[in-house]
Amino acid sequence: MRHLFWMGCVVQASYKVQAVARMLDTTVDSVRRYVDESGVEVARQESGPKVRQFSIENVFDLAAWRREHRPKITVKKRAIGTVYAPKGGVGKTTLTANIASIFALMGLKTLVIDLDFQANLTLAFGYDSELTLEEARETGVPEERVVQYHLGHLVPGWPGGRASLSDVIKKPFGENGPHLIPSDLTLDRLDTILTYDAIEGKKSDLKIAALIAEGIAGTNPLFDLSGYDVILFDAAPAKNRMTRGALLASDFVIAPVSLERYSTKAVSYLSSVLQDMHDDVGRSPQLVMIGNFHVPNRLRVYSQVGKLSTEYPGALLSVMVHRSEEFPKTLSEDEEQPPLVLARPTGGAAEQLHDVARELLQKMGVI
Ligand SMILES: Nc1ncnc2c1ncn2[C@@H]1O[C@H](COP(=O)(O)OP(=O)(O)O)[C@@H](O)[C@H]1O
Ligand SMILES: [Mg+2]
Repeated sequence: MRHLFWMGCVVQASYKVQAVARMLDTTVDSVRRYVDESGVEVARQESGPKVRQFSIENVFDLAAWRREHRPKITVKKRAIGTVYAPKGGVGKTTLTANIASIFALMGLKTLVIDLDFQANLTLAFGYDSELTLEEARETGVPEERVVQYHLGHLVPGWPGGRASLSDVIKKPFGENGPHLIPSDLTLDRLDTILTYDAIEGKKSDLKIAALIAEGIAGTNPLFDLSGYDVILFDAAPAKNRMTRGALLASDFVIAPVSLERYSTKAVSYLSSVLQDMHDDVGRSPQLVMIGNFHVPNRLRVYSQVGKLSTEYPGALLSVMVHRSEEFPKTLSEDEEQPPLVLARPTGGAAEQLHDVARELLQKMGVI
């Protein structure tokens, strides 16, 4: 039996066609047809009934093939978003990892950028940012698993020289899965550099926006982002200069809101941040809220949803993510799993996340 490996551990058997159908949001028959027509090579069980065993790369390859040959969606435009909330623990990283995975399952070229030096998103995609090159060599871990660069290395003026995008980018599930610009503790230095720039009177906040604009223009072969349909930043809860930079580079700020706890204060703070930004530089990203930790039939949840819908009309997505035991309790390293939509593709939480991702794309005007 073939297994999927994740950070060196076996996490689950490879996918059966039913799970692939759920991930690709289609029928089993269609998946079989996609395989036959695309020529994507899928292994078969060696003994017994020779059922197909899809690897995660197979699934993303089929998704990319479908976009080309049997399109279910029309991509209207590119969108850049920052997943941000001034609070920790509301699901920013969880939603970023899952939504980015779903976007790629829909055939969208997707890039996520970890802006938190705690590197939870990087870990969610299977990269332990603490692992050094020496340790990897000693233990036989492929060098590709080591985080050696982050967004800071792509910024002109980074001490020691600017790296090229291909050196920095990670592809945890192959070419057609989501791509990641990882993070590690030293990303903190980028904030320091931006602060020094600001002290010298340079427009440091616009540096990240200028960087992204350069990438989108596709004029620099060493830093070409023009092929991406969606770019998502996972911001730290602190409103530091990196977060501000990402917000300025974004068309949308995607704010997970915990419906279980009081969170209207956090949202009104966020909206004041956006207002200040608008007053300052004449633009700010559009607010989109995702209700998370939804618990049906609870009074406090009703009143929160009511308040948010009145105060920020149209900003809250109609589909919400319920509190679910399917999500891991902690993003701890020893029981690390790939994003839930890939680890438990047939569960209820995965289905909700698919609905949220689709509504989000519509809201952002991508589809
Ligand atoms: N809908 C949910 N139901 C249950 N647990 C959730 C849900 N969403 C997120 N979590 C869990 O909450 C914790 C914090 O989520 P995380 O994405 O790290 O938040 P943030 O990035 O905002 O700090 C994680 O352990 C995650 O698995
Ligand atoms: Mg986080």
